Amino acid sequence: MAVYFALPPKISQLACEALRPEDVPPGTRLVMEKPFGSSEESARSLNRTLVRLVPEDHVHRVDHFLGKATVLNILGLRFANNFLEPVWNRHHVEKVEIIFDEDLALEGRARYYDGAGALRDMIQSHLLQIMALLAIEPPATIRERDLRDAISAVLRASSVNTPLAACTRRARYTAGTAAGKNVPDYAREDGVDPKRGTETLAEIEVGIDNWRWKGVPFILRSGKALGAKRKEAIVTFRPVPHLPAGFTGVDSPNQLRIGFGPDTLQFDVDVNGPGDIFSLSRATLETELSASDLLPYGEVLEGVLAGDPLLSVRGDTAEECWRIVEPVLTAWQQDAVLLEEYDAGSAGPAAWPTTGRRG
Ligand code: BG6
Repeated sequence: MAVYFALPPKISQLACEALRPEDVPPGTRLVMEKPFGSSEESARSLNRTLVRLVPEDHVHRVDHFLGKATVLNILGLRFANNFLEPVWNRHHVEKVEIIFDEDLALEGRARYYDGAGALRDMIQSHLLQIMALLAIEPPATIRERDLRDAISAVLRASSVNTPLAACTRRARYTAGTAAGKNVPDYAREDGVDPKRGTETLAEIEVGIDNWRWKGVPFILRSGKALGAKRKEAIVTFRPVPHLPAGFTGVDSPNQLRIGFGPDTLQFDVDVNGPGDIFSLSRATLETELSASDLLPYGEVLEGVLAGDPLLSVRGDTAEECWRIVEPVLTAWQQDAVLLEEYDAGSAGPAAWPTTGRRG
């Protein structure tokens, strides 16, 4: 039996507290829809309540980004290619950006979204999971214990870089046109309380304090009502240490881009010509990555029904993800970082540096 909790975190907590272990038949799986808790402390308390009822591997904390074939695509790309893994570290990677720009606005979800905002809605959950997959140490197997141990270890080493005023940004949209629709000021959307100062676009720079990644910024950004949909991770490599004199043209850092839904891979390389063979120019190698027959939620549910927690978020990881974003939530609540504005349908506040642009 599986019991699916698609409830606000406080209600899930109360519902699970009301259950006694003897009410829960052996083998029951508890499925928890996001958000899992609303802080590190509340996530811990929900975890404590759940393990009184069922063993940890019977708790499925659902993250539909982990249902995506993307997870396995990332792991396959990283760990089945000998040319990649040796350069996948601080010596060769300059920065990693994970961008999830949506053109959709609130879509009638103000009641939930206004209490969450882009940082909680997307970064605390989905984007930190994608970051972890890009950054984990090679696991011995793609089974739940090895994979989830590796994810947990890398998230434990992660924190938002400081000063927060320089390493985090937030903004909310004003009226404009996005995805072909007129969008009102966020503050005037039905169900929004403008005094809350909820952000619809968030960006944070995360550092991973371990041997492999020390000093490499992982920039995570997500927002709504933007001009262009962009759903990708971009790994920018360092420039070559010496370009032989005599070459002309563009020598820009190599970038590897993994697009999400549809999953794609693009690798930008500098090659000679065309025309002048001494002149370098940019070529992009690209391919589509495999898609699943199931929708992301289908894949997650398949894991629940098969009793495989591989694609579920483990309890300690759920707590870590809150621990990582909490200093930012506090600083933003105290207005230590300006809440900027952008027109719906634009690329975000004009002053924000552009992320991941080629060359
Ligand atoms: C959800 C967020 O978890 O993910 C939404 O709550 C967001 O705000 C959605 O739009 C994005 O995922 P997908 O798979 O629909 O692109």
